[in-house]
Amino acid sequence: MTMLRLPTMVDVHVHMRVPGGEHKEDFDSGTAAALAGGVTQLLAMPNTSPPIVDAAIFDVAATQAAAQARCDYGIYLGATDENAPLNPALQRRAAGLKIYVNDTFGTLRVESLATMQNHFRAWRGPGPIVVHAEGLFVPACIALAAQYDQHVHFAHISRGSEIVAIRSAKERGLPVSCEVAPHHLWLDERDLPRLGPYGDMRPRLATEGDRKVLWEAVRSGVVDCIATDHAPHLREEKESNSPPPGVPGLETTLPLLLNAVQATRLTIEQVVALTATNPRRLFHLTEPAESYLEVEIGALWTLPERGWQTRPDWSPFAGERVAARLRRTVLRGQIAYEDGVVHAAPGSGRDVREY
Ligand code: NCD
Ligand code: ZN
Repeated sequence: MTMLRLPTMVDVHVHMRVPGGEHKEDFDSGTAAALAGGVTQLLAMPNTSPPIVDAAIFDVAATQAAAQARCDYGIYLGATDENAPLNPALQRRAAGLKIYVNDTFGTLRVESLATMQNHFRAWRGPGPIVVHAEGLFVPACIALAAQYDQHVHFAHISRGSEIVAIRSAKERGLPVSCEVAPHHLWLDERDLPRLGPYGDMRPRLATEGDRKVLWEAVRSGVVDCIATDHAPHLREEKESNSPPPGVPGLETTLPLLLNAVQATRLTIEQVVALTATNPRRLFHLTEPAESYLEVEIGALWTLPERGWQTRPDWSPFAGERVAARLRRTVLRGQIAYEDGVVHAAPGSGRDVREY
C-alpha cells in the first residue's frame, strides 16, 4: 500500500440544483460530495429553475452558495435568446457562459445562429464559453470560436467523430478545449440493459468504438479535462414514467481514475493534468493555498450502492472494483474530509472569482 499526495481536483461541470431543485442536491450536500471525491473547486451549471440568466437569479444562487458551500465554487451564467450582451461586471463574477445548443434537462436552449453570434461577440470572461454541442453542432461552434477569436470549451464530448473535429481544430491552433465525463469513458450503450434509467444521460452513452477513441484522446492530450457532469436526480425520479437524464459522479471519479493508473491505462501525471492543472489554466482559477489530497494506492474496495454524500445516494458505477481510495482532502490547511467523514462546515467554501 502506498500513500500518495496529489493536488486537489477541480470539477468544471456539476449541477448543484440551486435554485429550485434543492431536493435533488444543494450546495451543502453537493460540496460534501465534492470533498469526498477530492474536489475543492467546482463550477455549478445554470440549468436550474429558474435558470441562472441574469444578475437577480445569479445573486440568489450565490447567496445560497456562500451560506452552504463546504468547498470553493463558481457559478455559470446561462445564455438565452434575450440576455446578450451580459453585463461585464456580471461576466466577471461568473465561472463562464454556458450555451445549451442541444436538448437536455431544463429549459435553457439557444437555437438561433444570431443569438450565438451575439453572445460570442459580447463575452469577455474571464471564464470561457462552455457549449453543450453534439454532432454537427461541434464544427459549428468551432467555426464561431475562430470567427470571434473566443475560447470555446466543449462540455462532455462523447463521440469519436466529435474528437476528430476538435483534434483538427487544435492542430489549426484554434482556441478550443474539451472535457470528457467518466460515464462516457467507463460505460457504453452495452451497459444500458443493466442500468436502465440509471444509464440515461445527455449526451447518451455511445458505442464501444466511441469509447475507444475517447480513451485514446484522453491519453494523447486532445482531451483537456475530466469533468463529472455530476447531475443528481432522486431514485424515485429515475424510476418514474419520465426519468430525467443525468447521473451523479463527484465521488466516483477519482477512484476510477486511480484505478486506470493501477491498470497502466493512464499515468498519475496525466490524472493531475486532467483534473487539476488543465482545468485551472483553462478557467483561470487559482489553486487554494495549503491544499492537497492523500490517496492510498492499492486499497481494494467495491464502489457501494449507498452511503454516498450526494443527496440521491446512488451511482451508475456501484459494484465496480477499484484499487485506490481517497483518505484525506485538505483545504487551506484544514482537514475537510477524512475516511468517510466530511469535516468542512457549510459556509467555509469561497467563491473562486473572489480570490
Ligand atoms: C444534466 C442535468 O440533469 O442537469 N443532465 C445530463 O444528462 N447531463 C444536464 C446536462 O448536463 O446537459
Ligand atoms: Zn451537465
